[in-house]
Amino acid sequence: MDQRSVRDILAGKTYFIRTFGCQMNQHDSERVSGLLDSYGCLMALDPAHADIVVFMTCCVREAADTRLYGQCNSCKSLPPSPSGKRVVAVGGCIAQRDGEGLLTNVDNVNVIFGTHSIAHVAELIAEAFLDGKRHIRTNEHEDTDAMSMPWHRETQYHAWVPIMTGCNNFCTYCIVPYVRGREKSRPFEEIVDEVTGLVRQGVREITLLGQNVNSYGRDLFGKPRFADLLRAVGDTGVERIFFTSSHPKDLLPETIDAMAETPAVMPQLHLAVQSGSTRILKEMNRRYTREDYLGLVDRIRNRMPDIALSTDIIVGFPGETEEDFEQTLSLAETVRYAQAYTFIYSKRAGTPAAEIDDPTPHEVILERFNRLVKVIETTAHEYNQGELHTVVPALIEGTSKKNDAVLLGKSPKNQTVHAPIPEGYSIDQLVGKIVDVDVDVAKTWYLSGSVVGEPR
Ligand code: SAM
Ligand code: SF4
Ligand code: F3S
Repeated sequence: MDQRSVRDILAGKTYFIRTFGCQMNQHDSERVSGLLDSYGCLMALDPAHADIVVFMTCCVREAADTRLYGQCNSCKSLPPSPSGKRVVAVGGCIAQRDGEGLLTNVDNVNVIFGTHSIAHVAELIAEAFLDGKRHIRTNEHEDTDAMSMPWHRETQYHAWVPIMTGCNNFCTYCIVPYVRGREKSRPFEEIVDEVTGLVRQGVREITLLGQNVNSYGRDLFGKPRFADLLRAVGDTGVERIFFTSSHPKDLLPETIDAMAETPAVMPQLHLAVQSGSTRILKEMNRRYTREDYLGLVDRIRNRMPDIALSTDIIVGFPGETEEDFEQTLSLAETVRYAQAYTFIYSKRAGTPAAEIDDPTPHEVILERFNRLVKVIETTAHEYNQGELHTVVPALIEGTSKKNDAVLLGKSPKNQTVHAPIPEGYSIDQLVGKIVDVDVDVAKTWYLSGSVVGEPR
């Protein structure tokens, strides 16, 4: 179908996108949204008012799968759409994994588009409106690149900037390499130009995205590398740079230097450890030992003593013993994470770990999980206590969910910061501004205090 026909069919249609999963999916949703906008579609605030309902799916753990089926089925009971015809489209990682097979669990889906086919979503949806048939596209080797498509940013002050897609690591528990394909770095100049443009549009904070940002450039003849990119992005004038995720085996000394020497790179690093047991790390194919990881943390803290470290940890990998788990607990106590995402292992069909039998009862895994959560809560609380009676610059995102008279912002260390809206200001004047907050309360998951000085 040519572009003009797509526009004729889609112009004026309303769309709603629900996103599951990681930041990669969130950004892909912004690209889908940008593409639909470019054909004259209008964003709706809920599915009931949408002609097009898009689900961007995740299959990293089992719970995410089941949630999609419920959401798709609930579309059947929506009131008629504004145009009288509704197209339900499923994209993201489940779409890539299952393709047509998805239809065995949900029968009201009109369009299925994989993670490599985002550039074709408008055309597929238009075709479904036209002929009422199902349209499925999950080719792994698409020639069009979603990373350079138009996108619809959720906020004016922050932007997700993908620097690479895919993953080559094949951790034995993880489905991501199978649904996102191999690592592909985005051209260096394209990223720097994009950030320069974003700064001109008023963006103050960016998050560089990739499943393993540290191996950026490896497919571009090995140079430029991530450290070069950090420095170049730092030179664009953007005020705050975050990046995720970092694989410990690929975090080079030159990257630590670039972080320490680039003022816009925030003092925060997400460094997924997954387990504190060298034996389990080997089974996971993580390609570092407990000692390697702890050595890396020392090197990072030597250059950036106050850095906020966060991590991902899996409890209950098949065959994990009490001794293995205690190694994880002691590693978490040693590193003293500021934040951690803790997960119970979820079997993913098609991954090597799914073949390993595990006799450990679920209650034992749950009890270990709860012990780990307690340790993380303790270290996160201690980390935040270190901010008491200091002044923290918070980038304001909105108001607290519980109280709309209280600002919600983010510190350079990715901590949530609360403060009452200062007198004489409305929230609209403050979103996207940086305010200094004099911290007088430091809880496990947030800091709070009062605004001092003028917002900037
Ligand atoms: N590439 C990133 C990394 O390695 O840090 C993150 C990838 S994944 C989207 C986010 C986290 O999900 C992983 O770090 C891991 O802790 C968790 N995860 C992946 N597969 C899992 C599984 N089968 N069961 C439980 N957690 C899993
Ligand atoms: Fe999954 Fe490992 Fe790749 Fe992260 S590095 S996406 S955990 S395979
Ligand atoms: Fe999920 Fe796909 Fe991200 S499986 S975590 S949405 S890469």
